[in-house]
Amino acid sequence: MSVSDGLRLGVNIDHVATVRNARGGAHPDPVRAAIMAEAAGADGITAHLREDRRHIRDADIADIRAAIIIPLNFEMAATEEMVKIALGTRPHAVCIVPERREEVTTEGGLAVAGRENELLSYLEAIKEAGIRLSLFIEPSPEEIHAAAAVGADIVELHVGRYCDDVVGRGDELLRIQQAAALIESLGMECHAGHGLDYDTVADIAVIPQMRELNIGHFLMGESLFVGMPAAIMEMRRLMDEARGE
Ligand code: PXP
Repeated sequence: MSVSDGLRLGVNIDHVATVRNARGGAHPDPVRAAIMAEAAGADGITAHLREDRRHIRDADIADIRAAIIIPLNFEMAATEEMVKIALGTRPHAVCIVPERREEVTTEGGLAVAGRENELLSYLEAIKEAGIRLSLFIEPSPEEIHAAAAVGADIVELHVGRYCDDVVGRGDELLRIQQAAALIESLGMECHAGHGLDYDTVADIAVIPQMRELNIGHFLMGESLFVGMPAAIMEMRRLMDEARGE
């Protein structure tokens, strides 16, 4: 099995659009970034179309979808508007994230437990369209069981607490490891993301059930210093090293 078959690297290019939008023009172009990430060895491209369009815009999603061969993971909130866009774009996967207008970034995982019926009204159309359904949730058994109950194909674990909380990292890592095992035992695929960098990636990459890591902010920041291909290749090297592949 090749390394990419074992643990995929999804590159989130949202913040190329953040920089573009700061001046209102067309440069830097997130589509060019997606093509470059693909050439550098990314296994997938992730982009989050937020309700307020603060970074990625509707046309970016369509253009990225058309420009790349590797899978597009379309992050979106569970709203009627976003479901319509997903059905029109037909990405490889849709990752449902919580979204609040005032947040700086995606803070915490999606609340699924107790909201199954409400969410199903959005999720069913995605599943019926043959798009893989991913839910971005906290590493909590209750949320993982709820994700299975609504028919998720993938659970993406929010590892932001692990990445940010240096003091409590041991406890949080254990929660993530147990969550990954539970996800696989329930027949779903385990992904992780949020806040990963060169220092935090190894502990998450080495979890045997882990199939994909989605990494954005750190990689885009590092790209300013070393270039995007070098940043992506170094992240891939660290992932491979952690898994001994
Ligand atoms: N996965 C999901 C579901 C996200 O919403 C994000 C961005 O918040 C990421 C991964 C990437 O996180 P980061 O930009 O911190 O690497």
